[in-house]
Amino acid sequence: MAQTCIIVTGGAGFIGANFVQQWISTEPAAVINLDKLTYAGNPASLRAVEANPNYAFTHADIGDFAAVSRLLAQRKPVAVVNFAAESHVDRSIHGPGEFVQTNLVGTFQLLEAVRGYWSALPADVGRRFRFLHVSTDEVYGSLQPGDAPFTEQTPYAPNSPYSASKAGSDHLVRAYHHTYGLPTITTNCSNNYGPYQFPEKLIPLIILNALAGKPLPIYGDGLNVRDWLYVGDHCTAVRLALSKGRPGETYNIGGNNERANIDVVRTICRILDELRPADSRKPYESLITFVADRPGHDRRYAIDATKSSDELGWKPAETFESGIRKTVRWYLDNSDWVQGVVSGEYRKWMAKNYDTREAT
Ligand code: NAD
Ligand code: DAU
Repeated sequence: MAQTCIIVTGGAGFIGANFVQQWISTEPAAVINLDKLTYAGNPASLRAVEANPNYAFTHADIGDFAAVSRLLAQRKPVAVVNFAAESHVDRSIHGPGEFVQTNLVGTFQLLEAVRGYWSALPADVGRRFRFLHVSTDEVYGSLQPGDAPFTEQTPYAPNSPYSASKAGSDHLVRAYHHTYGLPTITTNCSNNYGPYQFPEKLIPLIILNALAGKPLPIYGDGLNVRDWLYVGDHCTAVRLALSKGRPGETYNIGGNNERANIDVVRTICRILDELRPADSRKPYESLITFVADRPGHDRRYAIDATKSSDELGWKPAETFESGIRKTVRWYLDNSDWVQGVVSGEYRKWMAKNYDTREAT
């Protein structure tokens, strides 16, 4: 009999790689990672599990219906967890096409392949099958200071090409449950941070720029607020949603850690001053530079995770203070991984996004 397994898509990305590692160390079933290996997919993030008999890799696009259907038929997974996406808001502003292609069309092709596989399963096996779609709080739009946090009932109001493409994929997932009965679960989480995050995103970008003595770019007035979620806590929530979540439902996942960007950056600077003081002995905060804002920049995100807490029994284990310290240490201790990432394509992105952003 084939070994029980799940398929994860986008498992070579930031959250996917953390999820695969956590899954292997906590769950008995095998995990097959299907990833296209875009600029954001990094096999080096999976070194710790690549030789594990419970791990396998398939190089494919979620939009390749034939390849995904073949893998489903061969491996007969009990669940598919969809992390694969184009995930960076600034890139979606420079080039929205890839976002529509992967996040919307790709998710559609993946759903079609999964529907074909699932509808041929024996009824009892099909009832236990799950398609878990990992989405974002950005689909709910932007909050003002004082507004109540997003709940699962908040109407969708995506503002960037990225969040619009994710919202579209969420609607497709909902429709596949409603129309075909596919046992889907959608999770909408807030900003993740932690090990293996590509340094185009705020927290790793600030850590690496500071260590290199480069400017620390803050968009606009630095008062935009995000709700920071340690990636390990997010992975735990996804595993609980798989085992305890009700088909057709959506679950919000947040860290309960609302912070203004400027405060996040100052906190990182203070931790670096303590752990790795600059040769110049100047505080890292002296590198902070306010730059032109992101077009359409959402002001504030905040998550009400009461449903995940009540139904899944989930609570984040990390505070922002404990998680950010762990994260800074991880980047200091893993310079090989960092060096592997900070190469050709990354340099091109830094020039494209920052060279034209005047200091304000
Ligand atoms: P990431 O950009 O680090 O990784 C994305 C992964 O998907 C990469 O390994 C990439 O190679 C793969 N991929 C891209 N296009 C693909 C395709 N067409 N077929 C197969 N693989 C493909 O992303 P992340 O930060 O790990 O985010 C994972 C998921 O979580 C995304 O769906 C994202 O929208 C969502 N999310 C992320 C955050 C966050 O803070 N990072 C917050 C909320 C939701
Ligand atoms: O809320 C969940 C979302 O969080 C995910 O769906 C996205 O995939 C993920 O990328 C993230 O989106 P953000 O746009 O919030 O993350 P980012 O790290 O790009 O930016 C965080 C905040 O920091 C945001 O307000 C913009 C600001 N910022 C970002 C960069 C890269 C800066 O001020 N300077 C920068 O150089």
